[in-house]
Amino acid sequence: MTTRNHQRERSTFVVRVEFPRASRARVDQAQRQYFFAWVWQNLQPLGVHEGTVLSADASRWGLLTESWEVDSGKAPASRDWISSIKKSLPIEIYFGTRSEALRGIHVLKKAWAPALKGFRVRAPREQKAKDWNRISKKAFSGVSLPPFWKILPPWKKKPRSNRFRTIVINPGAGFGTGTHETTQLCLTVMGYLSQNWSSNWKELQVLDFGSGSGILSVGAAVLGAKSVDSVEIDPLAIRNARENARLNQVGPSRIHFRQKQRRRKSSVILANILKPVLLAESKNLVRDLEPQNGNWCVILSGLVKADLTSVTREYTRQLEKHFGSRPTHLKLQKKEWFALAFGPRKIISQIQHCL
Ligand SMILES: C[S@@+](CC[C@H](N)C(=O)[O-])C[C@H]1O[C@@H](n2cnc3c(N)ncnc32)[C@H](O)[C@@H]1O
Repeated sequence: MTTRNHQRERSTFVVRVEFPRASRARVDQAQRQYFFAWVWQNLQPLGVHEGTVLSADASRWGLLTESWEVDSGKAPASRDWISSIKKSLPIEIYFGTRSEALRGIHVLKKAWAPALKGFRVRAPREQKAKDWNRISKKAFSGVSLPPFWKILPPWKKKPRSNRFRTIVINPGAGFGTGTHETTQLCLTVMGYLSQNWSSNWKELQVLDFGSGSGILSVGAAVLGAKSVDSVEIDPLAIRNARENARLNQVGPSRIHFRQKQRRRKSSVILANILKPVLLAESKNLVRDLEPQNGNWCVILSGLVKADLTSVTREYTRQLEKHFGSRPTHLKLQKKEWFALAFGPRKIISQIQHCL
């Protein structure tokens, strides 16, 4: 579990929590599953949703307003920080004030200590705001994603060359600075899609479901889409996404931010969310899909290998029902992450050809 709000303007109070490794499970995989099941169960009261503790819930609970990611536990052991820890699993939680930190410690101890022997919570440590700014700048210096994209923080100068499309992202409460493979897979397909889209991309209506920092919404607008519905459950992520839209000069007339999806025709759907949400929302996502001159595309990301069969089957079924013919799809992989792109045969094979 990691925190990821890099934009702290005042001191924060860091509480270090140490979980003992689960001693009863012998195999790493089982240990990880045991640990995550346990974390899910115990973070539920904080509003855990699809790997994220919603910022608003964390804030209400006394934590600093920010989202956390909770690993799905499906990462291979070679990239799994949990299995590399020998004795205990350290987690750092950031509070806005010392008194919130003390209140948090009390709740943590009460809720978690009885469940695990060896569970420890350390006294809060003050972290000065200026350190955070330094850390945040050091942590995100931008990403190049050839052949289409450059993602930069606002404190970096935009390159003169127009070889790349630039997206400016101020790292904040919303997931998506472009460093994660799941975001990169979406942006790559979007780049090739716009290149091969035969009708006018400028007339395009896009739905970005689970927009986080708004990176994909901004990307779609930068490619020229007329209008993007940017749906995000976390209000603080929406705030961050609005700021990012402003930084990229794609204002509220192009990107419409909302917490709930509304019924509106779209020809391109972007959804970088974990499998359970993709499966639960398949019908809603597909129902308003409308081709533009025969073109449409659904890009799904945030998947690991074990998710592919069920997600492919479900979306093939929904899309076949919607269009009355079986859709084609392609699969992309980056490290352990996969994305799927569904569409008419012609455009999918054109993208496939470019990859
Ligand atoms: C993996 S992030 C993707 C962010 C960004 N689109 C990207 O590609 O980097 C998934 C986002 O979906 C949001 N989310 C999860 N379930 C959702 C739901 N049912 N409706 C809307 N947003 C949701 C999460 O809060 C999170 O910000």
